[in-house]
Amino acid sequence: MKVYCEKDYDQASRRAANIIAAQVLLKPECVLGLATGSTPVGAYKELIAKCEKGEIDFSKVRSVNLDEYKGLSPENDQSYRYFMNTNLFDHINIDKNNTNVPNGLEPDADKACADYDKIIESMGGVDLQLLGLGHNGHIAFNEPAEEFSKGTNCVNLTQMTIDANARFFESKDEVPKQAYTMGIASIMQAKKILIVACGEDKAEIVKKAFTGPITPQVPASVLQLHPDVTLVGDAAAMKYMV
Ligand code: GLP
Repeated sequence: MKVYCEKDYDQASRRAANIIAAQVLLKPECVLGLATGSTPVGAYKELIAKCEKGEIDFSKVRSVNLDEYKGLSPENDQSYRYFMNTNLFDHINIDKNNTNVPNGLEPDADKACADYDKIIESMGGVDLQLLGLGHNGHIAFNEPAEEFSKGTNCVNLTQMTIDANARFFESKDEVPKQAYTMGIASIMQAKKILIVACGEDKAEIVKKAFTGPITPQVPASVLQLHPDVTLVGDAAAMKYMV
């Protein structure tokens, strides 16, 4: 595992954006696995700036996002499709037809998950998967569980995740209780993984996930087994890692 401990959030975002930009430069038709949450917003801003300056070209890039709330439409400003459009896709020259997010409006969970697995498969594998890290060690929306999930699955969000994500909603009651998420096995199939964690509140879980036992109770711990992982964090999140 490659570990970058950066001074602050802006530097960590710059580092993450550079790694993504390098992937796009080396393989313009690459498949990017993309993430939501507050952590990647800075990296997305950097990528937008690079694209505006003509330093990177997203026109051939394809993408798959990790997850989506069940029941939210793409137009709902809390949906992850809306997040991706407003924080990245609307500002770069990617063809939105080549971007994928699970269909939150599909009420049949089995169908929604199977459809998304087919999409991931049809893309021929993810070249670089970007990840954030939940406070309980979740990656995408794979919550602590008895076993590591395989393909796309429908999860019941834990109270911790609902509480953490409530800051984006008008009230806690509005946070959906379920989500469709790419599975752990699918995430592990990405050729390269880039995980970003920032802030003091992530320090404990970074330590647990990357230096503790590998267990589905800490989903991100599985990344210790991946052959090409880069962990980027700010000094606060990485305080036990240096
Ligand atoms: C959500 C997302 C995850 C993300 C996590 C952490 O639960 N489904 O993909 O990694 O939040 O979010 P943040 O970056 O805001 O701490």
